Amino acid sequence: MANYDVIIIGSGPGGYVSAIRCAQLGLKTAIVEGRETLGGTCLNVGCIPSKALLHASHMLHEAEHNFGAMGLKGKSPSVDWKQMLSYKDNVIGQNTKGIEFLMKKNKIDWLKGWATIPEPGKVKVGDDIHETKNIVIASGSEPASLPGVDVDEKIVVTSTGALELGKIPKKLVVIGAGVIGLELGSVYARLGSEVTVVEFMDAVTPGMDAEVQRSFQKLLTKQGITFIMGAAVQGTETNKTKVKVTYKLRKDDSEHVIDADTVLVATGRKPFTDGLGLDALGIEISKRGQIKVGADWQTNIKGIYAIGDVIDGPMLAHKAEDEGMAAAETIAGKHGHVNYGVIPGVIYTHPEVANVGETEETLKEQGRSYKVGKFSFMGNGRAKANFAGDGFVKILADKDTDRILGAHIIGPSAGELIHEICVAMEFGASAEDLAMTCHAHPTYSEAVREAALALGGGAIHA
Ligand code: NAI
Repeated sequence: MANYDVIIIGSGPGGYVSAIRCAQLGLKTAIVEGRETLGGTCLNVGCIPSKALLHASHMLHEAEHNFGAMGLKGKSPSVDWKQMLSYKDNVIGQNTKGIEFLMKKNKIDWLKGWATIPEPGKVKVGDDIHETKNIVIASGSEPASLPGVDVDEKIVVTSTGALELGKIPKKLVVIGAGVIGLELGSVYARLGSEVTVVEFMDAVTPGMDAEVQRSFQKLLTKQGITFIMGAAVQGTETNKTKVKVTYKLRKDDSEHVIDADTVLVATGRKPFTDGLGLDALGIEISKRGQIKVGADWQTNIKGIYAIGDVIDGPMLAHKAEDEGMAAAETIAGKHGHVNYGVIPGVIYTHPEVANVGETEETLKEQGRSYKVGKFSFMGNGRAKANFAGDGFVKILADKDTDRILGAHIIGPSAGELIHEICVAMEFGASAEDLAMTCHAHPTYSEAVREAALALGGGAIHA
């Protein structure tokens, strides 16, 4: 007799959500986690703590830049870094304890320790071997290393170290203008660091709509962040308190050096599967180190599933959650489903950046005929009142059928606004459907409707 129906390895958003769905479906479930607290990278050293620091630093930015204009006079607040970190830790604590409560509520056992799979149907944690009918690998990802760059998590840090620096650096060099580099770069720029981002490509946030990329870089530059583009970092050299970063410009191969107090390495993440024993099991892995799965998230070994950052696709918590639920449903004999065409991406800077579906670039690659509807937040009354007129909403629709194919938003609450378009896409809506939906005034959401109107008879406030 198996002890469990399902053992899930990893308690990040993919793993814990999958566990809850398994329990809801009547499966006897356990979750394995080696960290002291549940929640994985996202809750402990990723999404949640970074949002706390983004929120606090944005408040400071508002006080410094916009309070005076609204008639709110007085000295801007000074930063108590220790208190800001303890606020962040408190937010982490509330969330991780919340997950622990949910595990108990759903009668999911937490097997504490790091898991190995000695053979299909068995999971070893510490000295205990647990039997199970199914295994879901949800072990997440870890920062990818960069040759010549030695991370010590004090002076040369990944996102983990960047969330608990001893002090706010005077000079911060960020390697990589991806999501992590720009979110955390923004935090420190607002807190007073001189931030320089060194990026290999010629545009920030690879894969995003090119117009958004340009506008985003311009807005961040206006906020005081310096960009060195087309530059490949060669290595870092650390002495006790300082670090030198060497990079080569791609255009002429010239070598340059910049100094920093802290370097943040944000050049991507890779699947974390250490210690699971995948090789011995013969589980198929791609060249990029990702576990290969079929359409039912099952690996080549029956009864062993994988979801989230360890498999192909964007490394996003919500993508992992959806896969976790779908895998649970598949295991319970139902039909799990994930619509990979409608997975939003959000960058939580200010302004926020959000996207879903196709970009103009991918549509061109596919030779599709499309039309573009755009609306600037400058034409949105609510945004103007809130000092949030920077940015725009851009919707892409099929030229013939008017069906919405994608959307790209840079502007206030973009990460919330994008979901209106996600729902519309899930329902196969046309731009006209959005345009004909009454939107409350005055809201940021009106900018979404205006972009949809721009795809038909024309935006009103443009
Ligand atoms: P990323 O893949 O988004 O960006 C890495 C950047 O580093 C790229 O622009 C790349 O061209 C550049 N780069 C690589 N090697 C370089 C070199 N030698 N010199 C200069 N530049 C170099 O990776 P990032 O920001 O580390 O994020 C990792 C993952 O975490 C991503 O998949 C991201 O989606 C996810 N994430 C998502 C968040 C969100 O949804 N808000 C927040 C944080 C992370």
